[in-house]
Amino acid sequence: MSDIGFFELDGVRLRANPARDACFEVVMRDADMAEHEGSDDVARREMVHRHMTNEITSLDIAAECLVEFPDAPWELRMELARQCWDESRHVQVLARRLEEMGGHKGEFPISVLEWNVTCAIDNLPGRLATQNRTLEAGAMDIVGALGRAMRAAGDERTAYVLDGILADEVQHVRFANRWIKKLAENDPRVLMKLAHAVRFLSHVNGKVQIRPGEVNRAGKKLESAEERVPAVNVEDRKLAEFTEDEIHEILRQAGFRQLIPEGAGA
Ligand SMILES: [Fe+2]
Ligand SMILES: [Fe+2]
Repeated sequence: MSDIGFFELDGVRLRANPARDACFEVVMRDADMAEHEGSDDVARREMVHRHMTNEITSLDIAAECLVEFPDAPWELRMELARQCWDESRHVQVLARRLEEMGGHKGEFPISVLEWNVTCAIDNLPGRLATQNRTLEAGAMDIVGALGRAMRAAGDERTAYVLDGILADEVQHVRFANRWIKKLAENDPRVLMKLAHAVRFLSHVNGKVQIRPGEVNRAGKKLESAEERVPAVNVEDRKLAEFTEDEIHEILRQAGFRQLIPEGAGA
């Protein structure tokens, strides 16, 4: 709700945590999370738990946008409301899968950093650029790869759940891309807000990012941002209406220079 305050992290003003059940330990950095190496039972349970709680945060962010921006165009508010419905289903299917796997909520530490950052931004285009167009688009890349990894590990049921979620996430990224374009066409000042929001996100990421050689709570050695090369989900990014040039730029940043046609996406 809009009475959730702010706090300061190293000189940056972030939104205070949303309410979470007492069973959850909320941490801020990946280093304080318990992501496990490999794909054994605990590793898969932690992955499902982490995604389940990220879905709660996505729901909170979309719902907070509805509360704080009542004058946004009705069709955009409808998209956000549909997103709330999708995210709440995602929480339910992952919670069910977690229980099937013998896990329970609160079993591992969780993070609400996406909320801390996105809800510190005071305008709707900036929030859509941060949460939907950047963080959810990134999650789309990760969930696509995770589904394949689960299938390879013989966990068809979790892969099936992730496939279903991915189909919805494409729409969350697509409606944000459509609306950001529309809002920027109607008001060029929106472009400044977008630039500001994306810079703010990378600034905060810089504050909490993994330090070289750092190990998390599960003893997993974490890769720094520069070492991490995400598997860019090109097909779903196209479905989410990223342009060819934008996809080339993402591939370039992810280190897939050889996949980019000569002269493209400069
Ligand atoms: Fe979701
Ligand atoms: Fe989503």
